Amino acid sequence: MDRKQAENRIKELKDILNEANRLYYVENAPLLSDYDFDMYMKELEAIEKEFPELAAEDSPTRKVGSDLMQDGGAKGAGTRKRTAGTPSQKEFAQFPHRYPMLSLGNTYDISEIEAFAERASKGIGNAFTYSCELKFDGTAICLTYKDGKLVRALTRGDGAVGDDVTDNVRNIRNIPMELHAPEGFMPTLLEPEPWPGEFEIRGEIYMPWAAFDRLNNERQRDEEQLFANPRNAASGSLKLTDSTQVANRGLECTLYHMLGDDLPFTTHDQALSAAASWGLPVSDKRRVCRSISEIEEFIKYWDTERKTLPFATDGIVIKVNELPYQAELGYTAKFPRWAVAYKFKAEQALTKLISIDYQVGRTGAVTPVANLEPVLLSGTTVKRASLHNEDQMKQLDIHIGDYVYVEKGGEIIPKITAVELSRRTEGAEIPKFPETCPDCGTSLIRDTEEAKAFCPNTGGCPTQIKERLIHFLSRKAMNVIAGEATVEQLYNLALVWNPADFYELEKSHLMKLEGWKDRSAERFLKSIEESRNTPFERVLYALGIRYVGEATAKSVARHFGNIDAIASASVEDLLQVEDVGQVIAESIHEYFADEANLETVGRLRAAGLRFETEKTQEKLSSVLDGKTIVISGNFSITRDEMKALITAHGGKNSGSLSGRTSYLLAGSKPGAEKLKKAASLGIPVISEDEFAEMCSRDKE
Ligand code: IVH
Repeated sequence: MDRKQAENRIKELKDILNEANRLYYVENAPLLSDYDFDMYMKELEAIEKEFPELAAEDSPTRKVGSDLMQDGGAKGAGTRKRTAGTPSQKEFAQFPHRYPMLSLGNTYDISEIEAFAERASKGIGNAFTYSCELKFDGTAICLTYKDGKLVRALTRGDGAVGDDVTDNVRNIRNIPMELHAPEGFMPTLLEPEPWPGEFEIRGEIYMPWAAFDRLNNERQRDEEQLFANPRNAASGSLKLTDSTQVANRGLECTLYHMLGDDLPFTTHDQALSAAASWGLPVSDKRRVCRSISEIEEFIKYWDTERKTLPFATDGIVIKVNELPYQAELGYTAKFPRWAVAYKFKAEQALTKLISIDYQVGRTGAVTPVANLEPVLLSGTTVKRASLHNEDQMKQLDIHIGDYVYVEKGGEIIPKITAVELSRRTEGAEIPKFPETCPDCGTSLIRDTEEAKAFCPNTGGCPTQIKERLIHFLSRKAMNVIAGEATVEQLYNLALVWNPADFYELEKSHLMKLEGWKDRSAERFLKSIEESRNTPFERVLYALGIRYVGEATAKSVARHFGNIDAIASASVEDLLQVEDVGQVIAESIHEYFADEANLETVGRLRAAGLRFETEKTQEKLSSVLDGKTIVISGNFSITRDEMKALITAHGGKNSGSLSGRTSYLLAGSKPGAEKLKKAASLGIPVISEDEFAEMCSRDKE
C-alpha cells in the first residue's frame, strides 16, 4: 500500500467506524456486527502504525465511542427516524468524569492474550496475579457513593463527560441507594464506616435474556422497532425520558472497577469483595489466576458455560490484579495497559430444519417460521427460528432437512444465519412460499418495499381479527382480564368480531362458553365495565393502528387532545407530533380514511369509551425547562400548588437535593438539613419572590 492508498483507505475506514459508532452508541441500532467492527478497527490501527504521520488526533483508534447525543449528531436527525433507541430519549445534564472512562483493548486471538501477559510481565518485573472476569454485554455506568449513599450515575459519554442518568439508575432493582455494613463490622473513631467517604464504582447495566425477550415481544405486538440485542435494549432503556418506565425494563447491574483517592486495598479482587460485602452487585464468576494456562482454562470454561447464563456475555476480561502494578502500567489514550478483553465470536448453534410454518399476524403479514430440532443457545432451548420473508429463504437457499446455523439477535425467536451445505441430503425438498393466506385462503399481496407478503383480507381473515381483539383487550391497552383462549371461544361462537362487540356482551352470552360459570362471567363483565375508564391514549393504542405503539399513541393523544382532531388531521399535521415520522403519519391517516374503522370508533364512543384527554394544567411558560427544583418550608400558596406552578413553567419538582438540583426554593421555615446540603453541593437557594420574578421573565 502506498501513501495515497493509505490516505484513502484511512478516510473510508474512519467514516465507516464513526458512523457505526454513532448508530451503536447513540441510536442503539447497530450497523455492523461486533466482529466486523473490530476487524475494521484493527485494519485502521495497522495502517496508522505503518503510516504514523497519517494518524489523526480524532481517529476512532484514539477515542472511545461516544453515547452523547451532541457528539453523534443525532439531535434533530435522530428524532424523526424510527429507530429502536431514540423515540423517547431525552437530553441529559452532563458532568465531567473524575477519572477518564476508557474502553478496553480487545482480541479474538488467544496468542494476543499471551502477548498481553508477556508485556505486563516485562513491565512489572515481579510476580503478580490476574483477575479474570466475564465481559458483560451491556452499557457502561459510573456510580459515585458519598458517605455510603448513591449520589450520581453517569454514562461513559465520550470518556471525559457523561450523561447524568441518576434518576433512571435509581429505578434499577439491584443498585443500592445506600450501602450496608457487613455483619460484625465495628465502627471506630478512625474507621466509622466500612467504605471510603467517597468512591466511584463502575460496571455494566445489562438486560437479561428473559427481560429482553419480554420487551421485544411487546414491541413486536405493538409493531415498534425491535432492539437488535440486549446491549442496545439496555442502553436505550437507560436513556428513557420517564424514569418510572425504567423500572419495568428489568435492567440489572454488575460492578467491576472501583476507583477513588487512596483506596484501602492492595488488589482489585479485594476491592470487589469489599464492594460485595457492602451490598453492591459484584459478579462471583471471577477468578484470580496465576498463569496464562489458568487464564486459558477460564476462557475455555466460559466459552461453553456462558450459553447457560441468563444474560449476554461477549468475552472475558483479564486484568492485572495488584493495584500498584495497575498504576505502574497506566493507560494509553483509549485503554488501560493493565487489562485486555478476549472476545467470543457471536454464539451460534447448528441444528436440523424439520419444517416451515407460515404464520399470519395482526396486520396480515405472513412470516415463515422454521421448526427445528431442539438445541441449546444463549441459555434457552431453541425449537423455532425466524426466516423473515421469502427473499431470505431464497438467499439462504434453504431446503427442508438442512442443517442450519441459528443465532440469537433482536427477534423474539432466533434467526437462521446460514446453511451447512456439506450436510445436505440428496433430493432435499425446496420449500415453497404460499400464494394464498394459510388461514383464509385469500391471494397474498407482495409488498416489495418491505419484502413481505400480506393477506389483504383485513376484515375477514380470522387470524387477523382474533389478533386485533387480543391486542384490544391486552394489559397495556384496555387491560381486560381475558386470555387468548377466551377471545378464541368468543370468536368461535360468533359473539365478537369487532372490539365494540365486547361492550354488548351479556352474562347469558358468556354462560354459553365452555367451562364458564357465574363467577367467571361476572368477573369478565366487571373488567369490561372498568375498561370504559381507560385513558384516551390507551384507547388509541388499543385500536391497533399499524406502527402506533404505546409511546406513539401517548404522543399523538397528547398533541391532538381528542379523536376527532386526529381523524381529521392531515399527514403534515401528524408529522408535527414528536416522534412521528412519515411511515407512522401515513398509517394513522390511512386508518381514519377507512369507513369501517370510523364505524368501530363510533360504536366504541357510543359504548362510553374515552376519546379525549383529561384536562391538564395549562403550560404557562418554558422558563424552567430542564430545571429541577426542590422546595422547602411554607409559601403564600400550598406546597402542592407550588409544585404545580413549577411544572406549569416547564420545571421538575424533586423531593431531595442532589448534584442535579438547579435550585432550592426556600419559603418560610425551610429545613436546616436541606439548606446545609444545598450549601455543600453549591446549589443556589432562591426565595418565593425570586421564584415569582423568574417565572414572569418569559412574559416580558
Ligand atoms: S473493566 C478501563 N471489566 O467492556 C476500563 N469492563 O469493550 C475498565 N465491560 O468499556 C473496564 N465487562 O464497558 C471491565 N468485567 C469487566 C467488563 C467490562 C464488560 C465493558 C466495559 C468496557 C467495555 C470494553
